[in-house]
Amino acid sequence: APPRVVVVGSINMDLVVRCAHFPQPGETIAARSLQEVSGGKGANQAVSAACAGGNVSMIGRVGDDAFGGRLIQGLKNFGVNCDSVQPTANCESGLALISVEDSGQNAIMIVAGANGRLSADDIETFRQLIQTSDAVLLQLETPLATVLRVIEIARECETRVILDPAPAPTVCPDELLQVDLICPNEQEAAQLSGLPVESLEQIELAARSLYQRGARHVVITLGAQGAYLYDDQGGRLIPAFATTVVDTTAAGDAFVGALAIRWIETDDLEEAIRFGNAAGSIAATRLGAQPSMGSRTEIEQLWKSLT
Ligand code: RIB
Ligand code: NA
Repeated sequence: APPRVVVVGSINMDLVVRCAHFPQPGETIAARSLQEVSGGKGANQAVSAACAGGNVSMIGRVGDDAFGGRLIQGLKNFGVNCDSVQPTANCESGLALISVEDSGQNAIMIVAGANGRLSADDIETFRQLIQTSDAVLLQLETPLATVLRVIEIARECETRVILDPAPAPTVCPDELLQVDLICPNEQEAAQLSGLPVESLEQIELAARSLYQRGARHVVITLGAQGAYLYDDQGGRLIPAFATTVVDTTAAGDAFVGALAIRWIETDDLEEAIRFGNAAGSIAATRLGAQPSMGSRTEIEQLWKSLT
């Protein structure tokens, strides 16, 4: 049977503006285009996991605006079960304002909207779903108290927990690190550990500190360089696939979603990281969040060509 994954997280409409370069403070520039694209770190990871071959359910909230229905329909089109996505009365859907430069760099501001209303009580309602899943995927675009409750419940029912700690919180309680896998990028790793991450040596120290505070596996994503894994076997660098970057939006989400599926399938985290790297690399070559996810076949083709 395909891996069963439940994602508890954000669902956003991304308003994506393309421009030659970001405007400076006070500057006005002409942008090339404006597009509405389905996004949100939680929803993106759900789509990535579904494209990678998982049986995926989403727990989250949308608003009672026009975006809400479109966001749910978009997830369903990718095969994500949305029975546990609740429309929220008198509330707008989560929004992300995204600028993408021609270099592929992006800058993002998010407005939580309904994502901010996903409560710890909501999670109790869906305990059964967490219990019957192989893994639960978490990010930090929903309230911290909700995320902590999911970690508690998942530990009680022995469901594997994968946390993408983005955006990184200003303070990181140790309870947030009681997970099977945490995968921050460099900035998030620095913020969570309070340590610098400028060299590979420093990256190892930051990863080890998160491991010692409770995370069973730590994967620090390093963009074009790949990912640094630290666990009870020590630390090692797993290289990325070279690619031509068009838009890195959701490349990290593609990585996590695909990694989760392969990790459940094989229990081999190094292999799962390579599989995730392939998925992330495909997403970075395409514009937008959810539409940029590669299929299982595409991921396997790239992955096999390079291993
Ligand atoms: O990780 C990318 C996502 O971050 C975007 O889709 C946007 O919605 C923000 O949540
Ligand atoms: Na993309």
